[in-house]
Amino acid sequence: MSDLLDKKLLFITGKGGVGKTSVATGLAYLAANSGKKTLVCEVDPKGDLARSFECASTPYSGIEITDNLLAMSMDTESSLREYLRLQLRVPVIGRIGPVAKAFEFVSTAAPGVREILTVGKFLYEVKNNTYDLIVVDASPTGHIVSQLAAPQALRELVKLGPVKSQTEWMMDILGDPTKTGVVVVTTTEEMPVNETIELTKKIKAETNVTLSAVVINQVLPELFSTDEEAAFTTLFTDTNTELLTQRLNGSPQTILRAAQLAVTLRRMRSEFLEKLRANIDSSIPQIYLPYRFNKLTGLKSVKATSVALAEEIN
Ligand SMILES: Nc1ncnc2c1ncn2[C@@H]1O[C@H](COP(=O)(O)OP(=O)(O)O)[C@@H](O)[C@H]1O
Ligand SMILES: [Mg+2]
Repeated sequence: MSDLLDKKLLFITGKGGVGKTSVATGLAYLAANSGKKTLVCEVDPKGDLARSFECASTPYSGIEITDNLLAMSMDTESSLREYLRLQLRVPVIGRIGPVAKAFEFVSTAAPGVREILTVGKFLYEVKNNTYDLIVVDASPTGHIVSQLAAPQALRELVKLGPVKSQTEWMMDILGDPTKTGVVVVTTTEEMPVNETIELTKKIKAETNVTLSAVVINQVLPELFSTDEEAAFTTLFTDTNTELLTQRLNGSPQTILRAAQLAVTLRRMRSEFLEKLRANIDSSIPQIYLPYRFNKLTGLKSVKATSVALAEEIN
């Protein structure tokens, strides 16, 4: 599984709130720590990356987090400007208002045009070998497929000239499983699991990108074995609760109920885990990340996730 970090481009996706940003920053930090020149980019500039790395902002031009790690946020206007300058050799000085307006017009009508600015930026950096690894804190399940399929959509739209050759090298990089991969993050809850199963099917059917791994995040620890659980239930007698009430100077019911809740939650979640396992190709690596009960934030949280990832990956 360590070959995950040997790829050039990883898209981290999943349902909102499951831990995409945590996994993307954790993976990028791990890669940078192991000596790889790494770029981590958020596609939706909500500022989650800046919060994770405890910096004021993560501009399009990038901000250095450590020696090997650069963080940036996607900005399609900057990407368009860069594309015009580097690929079409059109010098863009000042505002690109009229170009942006024309682009806006085309991109609302044509599939893949807007998405290509997002995905094209990463593919261009892969082509130029600027980084050892680019980790994308990508769009959630609903939007990722149209981004990954953008070069295909464009090629179907424009079959001739520079667009054809541009989309071809992009599709080559996206479709090369040694270079590009999608990582789907999920929790063991009903909706994230259902979305993950659907998404893996769509990725296979509608894109030529490989699913490199599924990260199962926020896995609850097994607090009790079945025997211990039975023993705990027998503790739940009137005499014991009375005794505990005296000793603990409070309500022992709460403790016993908390124990039952922990068991129930884990059991419910393991049903969804079974469903996930049953519906995802067993050859796809699964990475388990435990639920973190400490409320770490910022860099401390990034480091904790990278340690947990390292234990699973290495
Ligand atoms: N393994 C974990 N254990 C506990 N909390 C987690 C874990 N992974 C993520 N979280 C928390 O869940 C919330 C959502 O995580 P985040 O990475 O921002 O998700 P996303 O980017 O998918 O919206 C954050 O508050 C984060 O700290
Ligand atoms: Mg996020």
